Amino acid sequence: MEPLSVFRESKFLYSGMQKEVTPFIPQTAPSYGHKEREAIDLYLQSNAWLTEFEKTIAFEQEIAKRATTTYASVVPNGTIALFLAFTALGIKKGDEVIVPNLTMIATPNAVQLAGGTPVFADVDSESLCLNPDEVARLITPRTKAVCHVSLGGRVGRMESLMELCREKGIPLVEDAAQAFGSSHRGKPVGSFGDIGIYSFTPHKIITTGQGGALVTNREDLYQAIERLKDFGRLQGGGDHHDHLGWNFKFTDLQAVLGLVQLENLDERIDKKREIFAHYQSQLTDVPGVTMLHTNLEETTPWFIEVFVEKPLALASFLKEQGIGTRPMYPAIHTQPIYAHIQGEFPVSTHAGAHGLWLPSSLSLTPSEITRICNAVKEFLRFV
Ligand SMILES: Cc1ncc(COP(=O)(O)O)c(C=O)c1O
Repeated sequence: MEPLSVFRESKFLYSGMQKEVTPFIPQTAPSYGHKEREAIDLYLQSNAWLTEFEKTIAFEQEIAKRATTTYASVVPNGTIALFLAFTALGIKKGDEVIVPNLTMIATPNAVQLAGGTPVFADVDSESLCLNPDEVARLITPRTKAVCHVSLGGRVGRMESLMELCREKGIPLVEDAAQAFGSSHRGKPVGSFGDIGIYSFTPHKIITTGQGGALVTNREDLYQAIERLKDFGRLQGGGDHHDHLGWNFKFTDLQAVLGLVQLENLDERIDKKREIFAHYQSQLTDVPGVTMLHTNLEETTPWFIEVFVEKPLALASFLKEQGIGTRPMYPAIHTQPIYAHIQGEFPVSTHAGAHGLWLPSSLSLTPSEITRICNAVKEFLRFV
């Protein structure tokens, strides 16, 4: 991530003795302030144990409330949350899990960490989420789970996917790492599957530094997750182990941070939607740039993506203008570690090759967005 304090030397304009600087706009940055500092300070004054305890339970209850699920369990990060989801569902060597071919690498890697084999399905061009027809084509007797990913907070054809999974008796995991606070037809993203997971890294809608959560309505899965994350125990402290487990516990220190971040989640969501709308109003009619149709009544956009012919050339042009970007995830089968994967993936290949994430921090101002959009338009005039 680019440091916030970076200023573009080359853009200094001298007028007399005064220097005007164009502040660098990072692609992303965490959002926190004095309330977080005060809460941490207060907590540290209480001789607390720092690790998972009452603050963690309070944080879990708030997450379950937002997700409208019966249970929530927090863990060190989203990757571990995915691993625990697959492990709780009994994924083991030889089992296949269908995942989208366009996602953060953690999704297929977590399947492998659990011992399973990721099988890649192409995505829909409207949402960049799993294409249920592709999933149906890939189901075999070894398919033991399907993992939907809400890329950028969008959902796609969830009802068809749920119907397919129900028909085939295959559990559905929702990787909603990027979608905490997003909803679909009035229901929170993360609450559609047997288990949903969220991530709280610094570029998510709320952050605890690192952090992840699992949400579910199934008591059996919740109990399995709680056991797996605490050395196989169901109650703290005991050293008799009849189940395998590890230490994937959270800390109260992070929960204190998370609880403060949750206090203004609705404002954060509104801000993300405003940011998307500002970009959309300035870029939708620009020839050479495409944005995805996004229902801002429901979707909480994550990173703002645009699709252009030459994303890397646009990225270096914007960098010259003091604007940070990030190329969208390449399609998984084009990653060297998954180069052995066979198949046709036209939608994810195109999105991965042409997508670019523009600055998306919660702190973005309308004038910064205008500066970014003008720079995008300037670039497009010359290519
Ligand atoms: C779709 C998706 N899945 C999983 C993860 C992994 O989460 P974490 O970085 O918290 O391990 C991420 C992280 O950004 C993600 O975007």
